[in-house]
Amino acid sequence: MKQQILAVIKNLLSKKSTDSFIQESNTTELKKTLNIFDLLILGVSAVVGTGIFTIIGSAIVGGSGSSGAGTGVIISMLIAATASLFSALAYSEIAAMIPVAGSAYTFTYATMGEFMAWMVGWILMLEYAIGNITVATAWTGYLTQLLKGFKHILPEFIVNCPLWLRNDFRSMYAICEKYGWDVHDKMPFLHLPFGIEMPIAINIPAIFIVLVLTILLIKGVKESTRVAGIMVFVNLSIIISFVLVGSKYVAPENWVPFAPNGIEGILAGTFIIFFAYIGFDAISTAAEETKNPQKDLPIAIIGTLVLCTILYVSVALVLTGVVPLGSIDTQAPLAHAMRTIGKDWYAGAISVGALCALTSVLLVYQLGTTRIFYAIARDNFLPKNIMKIHKKFQTPHIITWISGLIVIIGSLFMDLNISAELCNYGTFASFVIICIEVLILRKTEPNRHRPFKVPFCPLFPILGIVMCSCFMIYKSLSGGDSSLYFLLWVAMGLAIYIGYGYKNKRINE
Ligand code: ALA
Repeated sequence: MKQQILAVIKNLLSKKSTDSFIQESNTTELKKTLNIFDLLILGVSAVVGTGIFTIIGSAIVGGSGSSGAGTGVIISMLIAATASLFSALAYSEIAAMIPVAGSAYTFTYATMGEFMAWMVGWILMLEYAIGNITVATAWTGYLTQLLKGFKHILPEFIVNCPLWLRNDFRSMYAICEKYGWDVHDKMPFLHLPFGIEMPIAINIPAIFIVLVLTILLIKGVKESTRVAGIMVFVNLSIIISFVLVGSKYVAPENWVPFAPNGIEGILAGTFIIFFAYIGFDAISTAAEETKNPQKDLPIAIIGTLVLCTILYVSVALVLTGVVPLGSIDTQAPLAHAMRTIGKDWYAGAISVGALCALTSVLLVYQLGTTRIFYAIARDNFLPKNIMKIHKKFQTPHIITWISGLIVIIGSLFMDLNISAELCNYGTFASFVIICIEVLILRKTEPNRHRPFKVPFCPLFPILGIVMCSCFMIYKSLSGGDSSLYFLLWVAMGLAIYIGYGYKNKRINE
């Protein structure tokens, strides 16, 4: 019995050596086509999206019981950027050292053993697949906004498409509340354990865009990043011109009081606006397809973060300077700001920019999901035959379809806020683990070549661990269903490992 327990523990802790990962990636069938410019596009397209186009409004004004940061949101942004920076540096060190697909999952396998690796892979799914569900849902919202701008040209059934065809839970709940209807009479619900229930609806726009992107991704990564590049160009142009046009209308008195709810508002704002920073780690998931990962990965990751922070702070200053705090819109804050200064045509352009931004986030996240699946299946945690590479396009087409279907199914019943919070949990958890891994690898493999090193180690990784853990604890203590969903997700991962993953021998056999 004692021997059996020891064998189980040995199995759980068995690590895959860094060398074998690197060797595998050298023989990989994935095409090595990406350069630093592609990676920067990948990074910016993964990061700039729902956060700056939508969530910034709630971070400034507050919502769902939390107080807003006001103009102090720029402090929230700097705090979120700092936490992300510590993790970005950690990602860079490990991604350049072990340039293989699979992001934090792969790195964990090399440092903490197979059990933790599987759990990290499973949690990464929260960040990528569930994050993608959030963005797909927001995409539907922006498309609806855009179509309303064409109400004189388009047929009525398209402009006012029924709520249940576009999965607009917020409006459905608001209408039921307004008229005193029981929401259960108006739409079907999915009943989960622990009394959890989720409404079910069809989300035609989300299904459409995810199908298009799935096909694009199967056609090829290079082709996909080219499309992402066009999208990034459009949305960056829109954001920069928002800043340039809006800055002429800034009334500095709107910046006073700077932080109407003090530290509490700034911290609440930090938690929400963190969503705007998620995604730069998607760059490291494409490491195997990068021509010169050692040099390009760290530059692309840090470059993405710096660029986005400059953009976000500029947008926040213009937004809070143009619109008085009490009047900032939380659904489409940037478009609304332009309407406030009489630039209606520009509000439409912002919807186009937002759609481009969300499309590129969707694209990159789906790419990330497939590459994590690929790495996990390669290690036998999932059936190996899903790894099949398409003969003509040389992409993992089966996994790409699976990733797309997960997003489509999720977008039928998940609420945008819940999926965003779940995504935040997954990201914080993976950030903490990445920082721990840097510390472990510095001890276990001190002599391995590190093309990039986290400065001030161990201080910076420790600060990353502390900041991200505090965010998770802060959110759990402040209530909400998402912490329960997070635990449920972790329990599901555990069950899959015990039921399937554990039985599949993977290394040293
Ligand atoms: N950072 C990404 C966004 O804001 C997830 O949509």
